[in-house]
Amino acid sequence: MTRNILVTSALPYANGSIHLGHLVEYIQTDIWVRFQKMRGHACHYVCADDTHGTPIMLRAEKEQITPEQLIERMHGEHLRDFSGFHIAFDNYYSTNSDENRELAQGIYRRLRDRGLIEARTIEQLYDPEKQMFLPDRFIKGECPKCRAKDQYGDSCEACGATYAPTDLINPHSAVSGAAPVKKSSEHYFFKLGECADFLKAWTRAGHLQDEAANKMDEWLSGGLQSWDISRDAPYFGFEIPDAPGKYFYVWLDAPVGYMASFKHRCAKLGLDFDAYWNEGSDTELYHFIGKDILYFHALFWPAMLSFAGYRTPTKIFAHGFLTVDGQKMSKSRGTFITAESYLAQGLNPEWLRYYYAAKLNGTLEDIDLNLEDFTARVNSDLIGKYVNIASRAAGFITKRFDGKLANRIGDTDLVLRLAATAPELADLYEAREYGKALREIMALADVVNQYVDAKKPWEMAKDPSAGAELHEVCTVSLNLFRLLTIYLKPVLPQVASLTETFLAIPPLTWADASSMLLGHAIQPYQHLMARIDPKQITALTEANKQSLQPVAHSPTRHAEAQAHHQPISETISIDDFGKIDLRIAKIVNAEQVEGAEKLLKLTLDIGLETRTVFAGIKSAYQPEDLIGRLTVMVANLAPRKMKFGLSEGMVLAAGDGGGIYLLAPDSGAQPGMRVK
Ligand code: 2FM
Ligand code: ZN
Repeated sequence: MTRNILVTSALPYANGSIHLGHLVEYIQTDIWVRFQKMRGHACHYVCADDTHGTPIMLRAEKEQITPEQLIERMHGEHLRDFSGFHIAFDNYYSTNSDENRELAQGIYRRLRDRGLIEARTIEQLYDPEKQMFLPDRFIKGECPKCRAKDQYGDSCEACGATYAPTDLINPHSAVSGAAPVKKSSEHYFFKLGECADFLKAWTRAGHLQDEAANKMDEWLSGGLQSWDISRDAPYFGFEIPDAPGKYFYVWLDAPVGYMASFKHRCAKLGLDFDAYWNEGSDTELYHFIGKDILYFHALFWPAMLSFAGYRTPTKIFAHGFLTVDGQKMSKSRGTFITAESYLAQGLNPEWLRYYYAAKLNGTLEDIDLNLEDFTARVNSDLIGKYVNIASRAAGFITKRFDGKLANRIGDTDLVLRLAATAPELADLYEAREYGKALREIMALADVVNQYVDAKKPWEMAKDPSAGAELHEVCTVSLNLFRLLTIYLKPVLPQVASLTETFLAIPPLTWADASSMLLGHAIQPYQHLMARIDPKQITALTEANKQSLQPVAHSPTRHAEAQAHHQPISETISIDDFGKIDLRIAKIVNAEQVEGAEKLLKLTLDIGLETRTVFAGIKSAYQPEDLIGRLTVMVANLAPRKMKFGLSEGMVLAAGDGGGIYLLAPDSGAQPGMRVK
């Protein structure tokens, strides 16, 4: 029976780049979708950028562009990165769309009409300078528990305490630096407590993984608070109907973006949107998400849908987080790797797809990208065990048999054995047990290699009387290779496509596992995949290292100087330090940069040459006071293209947000001297 399936991955925020952590989810989903399509089901994979909220509004402001311009640019970047990893969305849309506005407002109206929305006045911290309410993340101050400075408004990075932003000592706005004041305003709340019975039943009705259902139990038994779904202007988002100046909180319209993206696809294809979303729909709906956003997807979202008269998700598939070499991704270790840089370094996206798949299962466990193991595993499995089967057999077919496979084969045992595993492998893909599926497939590849090793076609090739036997062995080998390709196709779409070209066959489907390729002319073998050179991995982490954060680019600006409680960074080797070429620089010119909030343009004399550097020190210095001063610069920092021109290095300054103090050498130092 053909299933009608709608699949989503979480919508990435439009103010950040896609990195290897994000890709776990998109690769996991894409494999599942490709598998469903190979099975002949009608499967739609939709996603979108999550475009609303304060961070996006402020970032656009900082870049001096409109939020619309920012989200348009990010949409292009995200789509480029996803396509680079063969993530094949059927529609990639935006939450800032008409469809989404109408759907979100419609859901709100239905909830309101059922008495599930209440208005209440609450007090929150407000930035009097910037004239806006401050989200927790935009308030900084001293931790009320351990008094560590410069902590966010929701939790302390030093002692782990969580608290309300109003508990912070000496709070300041991370936007303007001003001391926030308390201010009241009316907010709209979704009365989740009234959905408790529904949610208790829903979270236990097989829509969630067991671990997730248990987590929801904890939350449900703690009692459900009403959910604050409104934000005050200025806010980049959708206005709440009949509530001028009030906007939907970004998390209200974000999941509605799944519907909106699908609606956009329906309009393009003439599909019936209602058939997928109306209550009682017999289509299937799956959301792939990270475990950190279960709360939104397993409580708020089904409640919103159900009480607004829509169907609820069939299943929510949550996955764990990514670690690299056993640790959180880290900019200083070079393991905070963006999708863009992975591709720009010339690494093959299918290496990562394979490695992630080999580690993935249907649980919420974290997965580790161990860079050494990545190289070893891809080279041994994909090149050593899989690709080599084709390269060994295809040459003889082309050279000795006019490119044609034998018309019949006598020894069909192995082909039948591999074909017989199709149902079991299908079950594993369906259950998202990709790691198990790949282990099975590689065990089959081992058997195929044993067959080739035992038959020794290269020996047969030397014996003119063994022609028919050689033809059969190569035909069997290529049929086995074709079966392995079918099984790997959800994970390796590019290799599968190259294989289809080389075998001169239409796109492989799962059902093709029950047929054989005989008496068929193939194309000469073409190289399917290269090995990983460990040097490529070193180059990748080097390219992603950012060991020196420019102090002057810190987004915060305190009213008063703060003490320096920043933890010491991880150690680096003396060799790492030696790579930084620090030089005495004389500031020969300093000027304002038109349109830049924080930057001064410095012209620096470093002995042999003059450099232009854009430094974020405007808040602390008048340009004319800097001219003639000596300072220290990083002279071998790769030039960076900034909005206002090319910056050819960085000057060193101290500060933790409380002030900026340009470093200066003792008198007698000369421009160009190396600093050690
Ligand atoms: O956590 C995030 O990155 C959110 N942008 C995910 C949104 S998923 C969906 F609800 F829109
Ligand atoms: Zn603390």
